[in-house]
Amino acid sequence: MAGTVTFDGAPPPGTINLGIGQPSADLLPVDLVRQASESFFDNAQPFELNYGVMQGDERFLRSLAGFLTEGYGSAATADELFVTGGNSQALDLASVVFANPGDTVFVEEPSYFLAFQIFRDHGLKLVGVPVDDDGIRIDALRHELTSHKPAFLYTIPSYHNPGGQCTSEARRQQVVELAKKHDFLILADEVYQLLYYNDAPPPAYGTMTASNRVVSLGSFSKILAPGMRLGWIQTSSELRNRLMASGFINSGGSINHISSHIVRHAIDEGLLVSHLAKLRGAYRGRVEAMDEALHTHFDGLAAWARPEGGYFFWMRFDDSVSTSPLREKARKLETGFQSGDVFSSKGQLGNCLRLSFAHYNAEDIREGIARMRPLFD
Ligand SMILES: Cc1ncc(COP(=O)(O)O)c(C=O)c1O
Repeated sequence: MAGTVTFDGAPPPGTINLGIGQPSADLLPVDLVRQASESFFDNAQPFELNYGVMQGDERFLRSLAGFLTEGYGSAATADELFVTGGNSQALDLASVVFANPGDTVFVEEPSYFLAFQIFRDHGLKLVGVPVDDDGIRIDALRHELTSHKPAFLYTIPSYHNPGGQCTSEARRQQVVELAKKHDFLILADEVYQLLYYNDAPPPAYGTMTASNRVVSLGSFSKILAPGMRLGWIQTSSELRNRLMASGFINSGGSINHISSHIVRHAIDEGLLVSHLAKLRGAYRGRVEAMDEALHTHFDGLAAWARPEGGYFFWMRFDDSVSTSPLREKARKLETGFQSGDVFSSKGQLGNCLRLSFAHYNAEDIREGIARMRPLFD
């Protein structure tokens, strides 16, 4: 359609770019958002279109607390929640409120590459801490703490982007203990916490706010629609007060106030929970399709673990392989992936790549992987 805005980096027609970490059109719930919007606007009061209170609309925060109590299996309360414009905006705000230019922050190695840019925008210096199949490596974290004093550690505990793994419960607790001992904050990006396809992951950091060290970031991008630009921070009241002291919040009040009314209706009317069940079923099938296709085409060529949630498979090839230069060839074969090096704060991991199963159905996933195979001959 002429003039249609899709998204930055949208693939040309016919291309199956498995590098895209965004939901497919059939999983973006137009009817749900219409229904929730109608419920809101049918009885909307003028003040609901005004600036909202800084932490977010009280009724939205109460509904969200109920949703998280259920979803995380642990009591959440409205007074530990703070509305955000999604995790990207929350990362930006946290970089301003909880760090100063020139500070060091720890990031996982690998980690979500767009977060690197947000931190660097604020003059923060990144130090990478490696992860393994059980999440962030505690020995490596201890080691880095002998020579750095980070303002915060940025971690993606459940269904990591790009790694797909979960940090074990024991390690989450060790991280909290280290944060207390060395006085740093844990910026936990829990964007995939509720997107599990079999058993639930270990407890969210959002359930550990009593430590006064946790800033847990959640978002409706992966469980409803990225375009809502709505999320939340779950933290202690002391840290929440620091967020509310920011000039940006002081000037504009509640972030994305109107979206929050719509999502409150989606929660209260049970629409969000049903949608989440639909997403889990759809993504579970796609994980299976991707894993099978990888076994068909890549057995013996690369190593990967089948993820239990989230969006991603992380593949590791022999050290002699460099995936970044293969992206151009992949484009010609009408397929695509994200190369490993972009997820490294040190420009390493060039022998790895990330695939997402969120943007395509099972048939396209199988075809996209078959198209990738000749790149590695
Ligand atoms: C780990 C991680 N954090 C944050 C985001 C972006 O979140 P939001 O849309 O809430 O800004 C993504 C999206 O891909 C992500 O994978």
